[in-house]
Amino acid sequence: MARILVVDDEPGLREFVGDSLRLDGHDVVEAEDGRVASKKLDERGFDLVVTDLRMPHVDGLTLVKKLKAEQPEVEVIVMTAFGAVDTAVAAMKLGAFDYLQKPLGGPDELRLVVERALERRRLLDAKAGASADDSLPPLTYGDPAMAPVVSAIEKVARTSASVLLLGETGTGKEVAARAIHARSDRRARPFLAINGAALAENLLESELFGHERGAFTGAVERRRGKIELADGGSFFLDEIGELKLELQAKLLRVLQERRFERLGGTRSLDVDVRWIAATNRDLGAMMAGGRFREDLYHRLAVFPIRLPPLRERKGDLVPLARALLARIGPSVRGRVLTLGADAEARLVAWHWPGNVRELANTLERAAILAERDVIGASDVWLEASAPPPAAVDAAPPLAAARPLVELERDAIVAALTSVAGNRRKAAEVLGIAERTLYDKLKRYGIE
Ligand SMILES: Nc1ncnc2c1ncn2[C@@H]1O[C@H](COP(=O)(O)OP(=O)(O)OP(=O)(O)O)[C@@H](O)[C@H]1O
Ligand SMILES: [Mg+2]
Repeated sequence: MARILVVDDEPGLREFVGDSLRLDGHDVVEAEDGRVASKKLDERGFDLVVTDLRMPHVDGLTLVKKLKAEQPEVEVIVMTAFGAVDTAVAAMKLGAFDYLQKPLGGPDELRLVVERALERRRLLDAKAGASADDSLPPLTYGDPAMAPVVSAIEKVARTSASVLLLGETGTGKEVAARAIHARSDRRARPFLAINGAALAENLLESELFGHERGAFTGAVERRRGKIELADGGSFFLDEIGELKLELQAKLLRVLQERRFERLGGTRSLDVDVRWIAATNRDLGAMMAGGRFREDLYHRLAVFPIRLPPLRERKGDLVPLARALLARIGPSVRGRVLTLGADAEARLVAWHWPGNVRELANTLERAAILAERDVIGASDVWLEASAPPPAAVDAAPPLAAARPLVELERDAIVAALTSVAGNRRKAAEVLGIAERTLYDKLKRYGIE
């Protein structure tokens, strides 16, 4: 289902086009001239505009020009009177996708051109929201610990409830977010994401909400924000724990009221999105410390899902490793590689502090190292920095056993050293709450 705006001053034709597209299941809005169309376009997002060229007030060419300047992602099909192909050509130079000649041949001709335009829109959307992980087989698992998680994902996907994904770094929170969208009836609508840690505060804000022309220096054109573009689809708030309080307040309002304004704008826009948030931080501790809003937490955590660390679901290792390798082999070595039993045993024995991401990286290294099509234990380097001891083909011996407390103390010292003593970052590296780190520092007497 797409959102389509049909613009024509001739009621008969407009209704014919509108009704044909509605019959195909599209959500259609009609406008009788360019001025009304402009207003509707400002109010909500469309995927496609089908417009007549000759109309009173604001004509079709002016509409196309304005639309392509402000919302270049919207596809346009123009309808032109027989014998006026030159205006259609002008419209296509301005960015229109195609044209139809009046009188229209029938619903099939219309349908064909509309479907082609929507197909292009889908391709562009997919590209915009795509990451390198897109081609991954979704949600591979094999451990009983994952069964309730996958079942929760499947159940919640059918609703529009907000989901909060919790879990250490690399446990698959983004994979889960995409899986929820892909299994929902919003799947044909966009999936958009922002990462709270990746952008400066002011950039994040304009990414999210968009801005009006002149809202700040450099805002030369009106730009629609990602929330607006995600209308009807899903929005992934990644690393939500990194958002500053001010932005948390603004987001809360969007979640509560389902409306927002572009930066520098006064008009409120309605928006219908399903929210999925993720964090590896301890939001409980952050709320206790006044760094995360409780009201926002409750809005986001309608349905919390915790992704267990890989070390707590060892039964996932072999199925995950095989699924990942099926993709990595062809892309790294141009052929299918398999895992030897000795390599699998080594993978299962490791504790995977970096979780599935670390597993993927380890397999990629192994694929590069492997001299045969079967990966052996000696190809499996478990620490990025340290190759295993001169290995023949047998699994290198595991490190001599040491008391856990000693290992923990060393890990904390190493983490603190690697981030120049910054406790917040050290806690992140260790995958524990900052408060837990403080407790441990005290217990071990680390300065
Ligand atoms: N169930 C799974 N099936 C296949 N691949 C997975 C699965 N879970 C995670 N991965 C892969 O592991 C890597 C890390 O996953 P993802 O980016 O979703 O983790 P994350 O929890 O968002 O991590 P971070 O907190 O660091 O952002 C990705 O390459 C992803 O494709
Ligand atoms: Mg992530």
